[in-house]
Amino acid sequence: MKIAVITGASSGLGREFAKQINQHFVTLDEVWLIARREERLNELKESLHGVHVRTIPIDLCDRDAVGTYEEMLQKFHPQIRVLVNAAGYGKMGYVEQISEEDLAGEIRLNCESLTRMTKISLPYMAKRSNIINIASSAAFMPQPNFAVYAASKSYVLSFSRALHQELKKHGIVVTAVCPGPVNTEFFDIAESYTKTKGYKVILRANAGKVVTLAIKDAMKGKTVSTYGVVMKAFRVVTKIIPHGLIVPFIH
Ligand SMILES: NC(=O)c1ccc[n+]([C@@H]2O[C@H](COP(=O)([O-])OP(=O)(O)OC[C@H]3O[C@@H](n4cnc5c(N)ncnc54)[C@H](OP(=O)(O)O)[C@@H]3O)[C@@H](O)[C@H]2O)c1
Repeated sequence: MKIAVITGASSGLGREFAKQINQHFVTLDEVWLIARREERLNELKESLHGVHVRTIPIDLCDRDAVGTYEEMLQKFHPQIRVLVNAAGYGKMGYVEQISEEDLAGEIRLNCESLTRMTKISLPYMAKRSNIINIASSAAFMPQPNFAVYAASKSYVLSFSRALHQELKKHGIVVTAVCPGPVNTEFFDIAESYTKTKGYKVILRANAGKVVTLAIKDAMKGKTVSTYGVVMKAFRVVTKIIPHGLIVPFIH
């Protein structure tokens, strides 16, 4: 049984992956959707046609809950054709403003649970499989006022690139998706402490387009997928100009 596993499927980019995945990965038998909000997952399940859908309503920061996913793998023994790690959040503001719980929570979900999901899933992945990790353009350099989030996404980018090299021998492609701002519910949570800067509002991309490119890039074997000319240029600039100069300027 060939499956796709998508975390963060109740909203935004994860939800878009759920809608598009079986148009591109045409041999899928099932799609497994993971997030906390069960009603949202069930609504999405009802709207998806052409593939069997299983919903797994769990908190990815809860080790025991993630065990439920592991048990399902042991029970059904599927072949994971594609794993999409999309669950994640960030809170804008200065570190001294944001609660310790919120800062640690970002690291737990964006880094720790993504790593755990990957590790648990790997034994069920065969040749010509894909891991798609949602990083961010925030991964390209340190970001004052979004410090922990940017650092967590640098982790996702670095982890994904290294893992890609490790898994080459098994024919598994790992792609880090690094979009700039995208029009999703992300900002409802991100703005708990402070408002989004104006340029991030203007630059917001369409989630469907970001996901279409991400899937195409993953299928081409690309290690990084960056949507849009502005973010591609941003990536180049952050490679050329020393961060010591550019970080104070952006701040
Ligand atoms: N939107 C942007 O501007 C942007 C830009 C670059 C990168 N990204 C990244 O893209 C990814 C998706 O974000 P999005 O924009 O789609 O935001 P979103 O609409 O807020 O979606 C976040 C998803 O993560 C899930 N989630 C959050 N905490 C969870 C937990 N503890 N356990 C399980 N699932 C959890 C949420 O579902 P439940 O609440 O139902 O659990 C939701 O499905 C994130 O990694 C984000 O960092 C976003």
